[in-house]
Amino acid sequence: MLSLLLAGLTLAAAQTTSVEYPTAAEIEAARASVLPYSPVSNVKGKAFSRFVDIWLENVDYPTASRDPHLAALAKEGILLTNYWAVTHPSEPNYCASASGDTFGMDNDNWHQIPANVSTIADLFDTKSLAWGEYQEGLPYAGYQGYEYLAASGANDYMRKHNPLILFDSVTNDALRLRQIKNFSSFYEDLEHHRLPQYMFVTPNMTDDGHDTNVTYAGKWTSDWLTPLLKNDYFSDDTLVMLTFDEAGNYTYMNKVYTFLLGGAVPDHLRGTTDDTFYTHYSVIASLSANFGLPSLGRWDCGANLLSLVAEQTGYVNYEVDTTTLFSNETYPGPLSANEYSTYSDVWPVPLTAGECSAGNGIVDVVKKTYKGREATYNYTAPFPYNAKTGNNVGVKYSRKENGKVEVFET
Ligand SMILES: *[C@@H]1O[C@H](CO)[C@@H](O)[C@H](O)[C@H]1NC(C)=O
Ligand SMILES: *[C@@H]1O[C@H](CO)[C@@H](O)[C@H](O)[C@H]1NC(C)=O
Ligand SMILES: *[C@@H]1O[C@H](CO)[C@@H](O)[C@H](O)[C@H]1NC(C)=O
Ligand SMILES: *[C@@H]1O[C@H](CO)[C@@H](O)[C@H](O)[C@H]1NC(C)=O
Ligand SMILES: *[C@@H]1O[C@H](CO)[C@@H](O)[C@H](O)[C@H]1NC(C)=O
Ligand SMILES: *[C@@H]1O[C@H](CO)[C@@H](O)[C@H](O)[C@H]1NC(C)=O
Repeated sequence: MLSLLLAGLTLAAAQTTSVEYPTAAEIEAARASVLPYSPVSNVKGKAFSRFVDIWLENVDYPTASRDPHLAALAKEGILLTNYWAVTHPSEPNYCASASGDTFGMDNDNWHQIPANVSTIADLFDTKSLAWGEYQEGLPYAGYQGYEYLAASGANDYMRKHNPLILFDSVTNDALRLRQIKNFSSFYEDLEHHRLPQYMFVTPNMTDDGHDTNVTYAGKWTSDWLTPLLKNDYFSDDTLVMLTFDEAGNYTYMNKVYTFLLGGAVPDHLRGTTDDTFYTHYSVIASLSANFGLPSLGRWDCGANLLSLVAEQTGYVNYEVDTTTLFSNETYPGPLSANEYSTYSDVWPVPLTAGECSAGNGIVDVVKKTYKGREATYNYTAPFPYNAKTGNNVGVKYSRKENGKVEVFET
């Protein structure tokens, strides 16, 4: 077993390339040799023991809510009516889901984020919780190229929709890299009962609605999920979340149609709605609270927890007055290429102390790396904002605990 594992590592190291546009020959060589890696773990969570995060593309809440396939699925679970993307365009939202920040990213460019930036993989490692990504159309596990096109020339896989591949702390590690797999691996992992406890699912550019529309993506979702939800191995104690990376209209509020499904949704909550304020960062915080993991000390720290989880931990979520919230811009940072590109090229510093909404403090690697430094933003707020450039400022949020109401304003 060990020698097999080592052989796999050597092959992976020898055969994969991290260039933006690898040649067809390089891709074929890697495809023939790289072994996908599918670790298994059995950590019992408070509200669910597996989380499946599926992202579709670029549709406003009202438009998505009118899609019959999506609406029918939502009726079988919990519709989250107040779930927000964090900026525009796509890539910073995917980046946010893995690391709790956008680092000022306001574009879909090629980025490689330095190894001293931590991700959810570091959180999962604290309990050896198995994770994986399933990227439809990825030519082989851990492929790092900018895109992979179908034979017809149509867009198939795009790196900008692949959260963990953006981080050197993932790509520098051959085992982590090989947990970023394609849909053939998904079906193999399903069949052999080795699905991870956290999985991120990116359908290809046709199926996720990017190059088609929400009618297409809604039907794809229904076709893909319906048999899986009937599969006990997939569904038992599993929470499936279907969401969108961002709304399509950049001058409208960036709220996205989102629902929860799966065996972890209690019967009495099927067909209900939940109007708690959530963002993409709430997913990281909820995973941490659910599995007893620490926080990244970024925007996941103050993020609200999914009610299903908050009820288990006793955490009281913030209420946010969204009247003037758009969540459609970003703030200065090293990955900014447009409006704020001249403001700052300094990597934002995360929090190194505090309990955070998940209640388990900050992950050790972050505490060690950023020791003695002051956090760049008020990461204890339930949504990102930046006073200097006025993004998401003037928004009130409050929390009622023990009969007392505390009010804050960004
Ligand atoms: C993290 O890495 C970046 C890029 O190498 C560097 O600019 C930054 O100073 C590092 N931060 C810390 C806290 O070491
Ligand atoms: C999916 O990944 C596997 C393993 O890396 C590879 O052998 C296979 O060719 C890929 N499938 C497709 C459709 O690209
Ligand atoms: C996307 O995936 C579907 C299957 O889900 C496949 O039929 C299609 O060829 C893939 N690629 C493109 C570019 O549509
Ligand atoms: C999506 O495109 C199909 C085919 O062009 C069309 O029939 C359908 O009405 C479109 N859906 C929306 C929401 O525009
Ligand atoms: C965000 O939305 C507001 C309100 O519609 C608009 O004024 C602003 O220009 C938008 N920002 C961007 C970057 O589109
Ligand atoms: C986008 O939202 C604005 C309101 O902020 C609205 O005036 C405009 O018509 C919307 N555009 C589209 C294409 O729906």
